[in-house]
Amino acid sequence: MERIAEYVDVPLSRVYGVATFYSQFRFYPLGTYVIKICHGTACHVNGGVNIAQVIKEDVGIEEGETTSDGLISLERVACLGCCSLAPVIMINDTAYGNLTPAKVRRLIHKVKTGELHD
Ligand code: FES
Repeated sequence: MERIAEYVDVPLSRVYGVATFYSQFRFYPLGTYVIKICHGTACHVNGGVNIAQVIKEDVGIEEGETTSDGLISLERVACLGCCSLAPVIMINDTAYGNLTPAKVRRLIHKVKTGELHD
């Protein structure tokens, strides 16, 4: 941020303001697997809350956090654009829909054991 502030000749506080406003900027590295949990309306009414709870329990972190080993990051999103498959999560670039707690537990197990391939 200091280099950017110097390069564009603005106060460091303005760079920091931009970096903290947009969620696409991060102050920590993401995990190898980024799991986006949809909390949009379709997913919410189709059990998304339970899916989110199962994931958080199985992974052991909250949304917005990364596991200490750097394997998994959890992110909360408003809609993944495939509402007809609700409830939906996305692991890296692949969407998984029509989830149940049992299905999502199997997916998390595959992530943890390296059996999940994009
Ligand atoms: S509401 Fe979840 S994919 Fe749209």
